[in-house]
Amino acid sequence: MYRSHTCGELRISDINKEVTLSGWVQRVKDRGVLNWVVIRDRYGITQLVFDEERTPAALLERSKKLGREFVIQVKGNVIERESKNPNMPTGDIEILVNELIILNQAIVPPFTIEDETDGGEDIRMKYRYLDIRRNPVKNSLLFRHQIAMQVRNYLSNQGFIEVETPYLIKSTPEGARDFVVPSRMNEGQFYALPQSPQTFKQLLMVGGMDKYFQIVKCFRDEDLRADRQPEFTQIDCEMAFVEQEDILNIFEGFTRHLLKEIKGVEIGDFPRMTYKEAMKTYGNDKPDIRFGMKFGELNEVTQHKEFNVFNDAELVVGIAVPGGASYTRKEIDKLIDWIKRPQVGALGMVYVKCNEDGTYKSSVDKFYDQDDLAKWAKVTGAKTGDLICVLSGQTNKVRGQLSALRMELAERLGLRNPEEFAPLWVVDFPLLEWDEETERYHAMHHPFTSPKPEDISLLDAKPGDVRANAYDLVLNGNEIGGGSIRIHDKETQALMFDHLGFTPEEAKEQFGFLMDAFQYGAPPHGGIAFGFDRLVAILGGQETIRDFIAFPKNNSGRDVMIDAPANIDKEQLAALNIKLDL
Ligand code: AMO
Repeated sequence: MYRSHTCGELRISDINKEVTLSGWVQRVKDRGVLNWVVIRDRYGITQLVFDEERTPAALLERSKKLGREFVIQVKGNVIERESKNPNMPTGDIEILVNELIILNQAIVPPFTIEDETDGGEDIRMKYRYLDIRRNPVKNSLLFRHQIAMQVRNYLSNQGFIEVETPYLIKSTPEGARDFVVPSRMNEGQFYALPQSPQTFKQLLMVGGMDKYFQIVKCFRDEDLRADRQPEFTQIDCEMAFVEQEDILNIFEGFTRHLLKEIKGVEIGDFPRMTYKEAMKTYGNDKPDIRFGMKFGELNEVTQHKEFNVFNDAELVVGIAVPGGASYTRKEIDKLIDWIKRPQVGALGMVYVKCNEDGTYKSSVDKFYDQDDLAKWAKVTGAKTGDLICVLSGQTNKVRGQLSALRMELAERLGLRNPEEFAPLWVVDFPLLEWDEETERYHAMHHPFTSPKPEDISLLDAKPGDVRANAYDLVLNGNEIGGGSIRIHDKETQALMFDHLGFTPEEAKEQFGFLMDAFQYGAPPHGGIAFGFDRLVAILGGQETIRDFIAFPKNNSGRDVMIDAPANIDKEQLAALNIKLDL
């Protein structure tokens, strides 16, 4: 028997027990006549003691040879500690060791396995198995597991069944590039790894499964960010015989359940906002509503003077920064430099200080008088002591820039409290989105999303105005889930493919299986998928999903631990009939 107890288990009530523990050596504190060794496992740490008085000399000597991360087994008695450590759950006791077995030696680890480690990100990723021994990473994985269990239990209790769908499939168009896998048995042909199980879950509805879910890996070959990984996990869900309202209610209940069970927070009805409203009020389709700083559109109150920058702008829009009137000239200049960075891309910023004495001081005093500026303050909701930041230019660009500034300032002002949770449904997304690069419309969500019936007549004349039965669930400024009511008849699906620029032949070749299925009695259906990694990270108070993934990829999409992707040898290439011309 390797252990009678774990390293996190023993308390004062266990005094005098004869125990066996196994684990890793965390620390050795050699004081000559006395040697303390701290042993660690998944459950915690326990102090072992070897001393001249009570320990045989040979054993004391051997204990001094232990190095960090040696795997050991000890037998001994639980004794009360002289100087207790209240910060350690096992801090009242220690083990007086009478037998020590070295199960495995360890070379010196490349960084300290402590909560605060000296190892940088790169080295910790290369030795991720060592990083996982550290509490912060270990706890993130335990937290993820806890949430996964809640998800499975809740959905299963609601009658959802988990069905696995294949990973070797044909491309699903979710907007990103596919990862592809060559087929040896079908020369020259490739599978694609699913960007999501979208078409399969729809086929499960045609198959009568009615309520489906799956905690499932998805693969997208896209540029990485803090909240994106090339392989990530979704809680993928689909239901038959539902309308948008049903889905919103069920998954609001689901999210509320997770918030309550995992974070202990009770949240009432989730607010809803249309996409249009979100863009107008926050410049963003995933607004963080934990704080205000709502956009005030200033075109009407700015475009009557000689200031041509504003006169020529499609949109003039501002936000009021609480307490910002006290910013020094230098601080404001820094803020302007920040928004001019290429990542944000603003050309400049006009600002107004709302002074404590009720007067205004702006960077455009030459053009606007106190009455004008008072109107700006009214529109942006600025109070005395605030700073109004105003940007202008092409609508979409300016909204994006001001939204970035709003988030940055909120971060600096400490308004993004990770322990506060503000969910929001964003609804009525546009069905189609104009793509500058390819100069045509793309499905904003995916091509299986149904248009709002009352908007279908606009498809030809004003495709950009057609709204979809599509929704996103936003939590603290992050899109944690998205879904839609689907098209379930062949004609509408064909119409949609036509508007997306597919010829009937292309549509048949790529999605014939789905159109065929629709002819055999497809029920009305819809669903949603949550980004599981994102959900876990946000509930854990963070936005970097990497910390909640056991073996994540780095920013270049590499696994630096196993060194993937990598070349494959000539024989493998030949078997796949792939000729590389590098
Ligand atoms: P969508 O593409 O919106 O919808 O994805 C659903 C959710 O998955 C998360 N997500 C990601 N998380 C980490 N890394 C990524 N690269 C990544 N990409 C997306 C987001 C997102 O909200 N089939 C549809 C769902 C449906 O219609 O039911 C779909 O995949 O949190």
